[in-house]
Amino acid sequence: MAAPLPIASADADPSFAELLAARPHLSLHALDGLLVEEVPLARIAAAVGTPSWVYSAGALRRRARALKAALAGAGLRASVHYAVKANGNLAVLRVLASEGLGADVVSEGELRLARAAGIPASAIVFSGVGKTERELRLALAEDIAQINIESAEEAAMLSALAASLGRVARVALRVNPDVDARTHAKITTGRSENKFGVGIDDAPALYARLAAMPGLRPVGIAMHIGSQITSGMAAYRAAYARMAELATVLIGRGLPVEHLDCGGGLGIPYRDEPAPAPEALAGAIAATLGPLGLPVMLEPGRWIAGPPGLLLSSVVLQKQGAGRRFLVLDAAMNDLVRPAMYEAWHGILPVSPADCAAALAPSDVVGPVCETGDTFARGRALPSLQPGALVALLDAGAYGAVMSSTYNMRPLAAEVLVDGSRFAVVRDRQGYEAMLAGQRLPDWLAEGAVP
Ligand code: LLP
Repeated sequence: MAAPLPIASADADPSFAELLAARPHLSLHALDGLLVEEVPLARIAAAVGTPSWVYSAGALRRRARALKAALAGAGLRASVHYAVKANGNLAVLRVLASEGLGADVVSEGELRLARAAGIPASAIVFSGVGKTERELRLALAEDIAQINIESAEEAAMLSALAASLGRVARVALRVNPDVDARTHAKITTGRSENKFGVGIDDAPALYARLAAMPGLRPVGIAMHIGSQITSGMAAYRAAYARMAELATVLIGRGLPVEHLDCGGGLGIPYRDEPAPAPEALAGAIAATLGPLGLPVMLEPGRWIAGPPGLLLSSVVLQKQGAGRRFLVLDAAMNDLVRPAMYEAWHGILPVSPADCAAALAPSDVVGPVCETGDTFARGRALPSLQPGALVALLDAGAYGAVMSSTYNMRPLAAEVLVDGSRFAVVRDRQGYEAMLAGQRLPDWLAEGAVP
């Protein structure tokens, strides 16, 4: 049974009803309030406390399937390697592994995590501009599918290491296509001034050198031009057209190119951005790379894990400032840093049915951390909320929990997985004992009392 919802407010933000309609795993029940799948968020808050991250297994599965279907529908032979950096919760990874997704990892920790979740080494790609020798050693020992090389220097390091261990590393060369993905400056990666990949003009010579180096076997080209790309397919098409040209040159020179790694980056509508559907991306890949007839790989993070997650928080108090109403939450920038770091907009929904139907007024939604940047939203149309009222910060499944810190000595929040009518804590809230456990006083300070 749906509860009545207020009409959209005069400003341009989407209404509560519009936010809900665009997120099929969320619904509003007249008695139970906001639900994730079949579980009321109020029940999770009562059992687990707040702030807590809540992920929908159903939404994760639906999105994994939709992406794979879009790629197959465009006639592509494609494998999806989920970018673990977006959300590295073990249960989330397990759901995605069960859907047949591989992993794109960028550290020893993520490699271990992906393996612990049951993702086979043969489905793991290792990206990143600064893999250490220790990390490369582990990648070689695990015999993962592919290591994406980002520089001539890294190629030399890996070659020497692999040869000394008597191994052959399958490598793709990450190429920087010098296209502008027109996304936030902090998350664009495909411009020539960015630190990522090798310049496209240097790629043919370097690829030929890789083929001649001991311990390396070049298997393809990789590109990743940026994240939260919502500007349409132009940047993708430009990048993949360059990839196609490069692949044609390499193949023409008799060099082995077995597949093409198209990276991640597909954006999602946090507010009401015209984010492209996976069919559009699949179409752009098919149009540019399809004629080569090679299998393609994708490394999506946000598109898979973003919408299925939210951050559940309680109102600490509502404070009337000079001409502004502040809603102070028990979640803060140490939990969800995206608004502070990228000026990101996240939808905010009240959880109780009465709060969803109440009159709206502009509120600044803030956390308790001692920084002005600890602001989730400014002038957001929200009801007046009592201490203890619950709110959900939407689309926080990607680059949410993974970017948390313990700033202000705030423990890492719990993580919860909802699956139909079931839910389970899939990461305990950090305890204060655990936070203190690794800290030590040196002998010379431990002795002697503090006056
Ligand atoms: N592959 C590579 C090599 C990457 O660097 C990334 C993301 C991905 C794949 C996945 O991209 P996605 O599909 O999620 O856009 N913390 C920022 C996003 C940083 C993205 C870093 N690289 C945010 O919260 O917006």
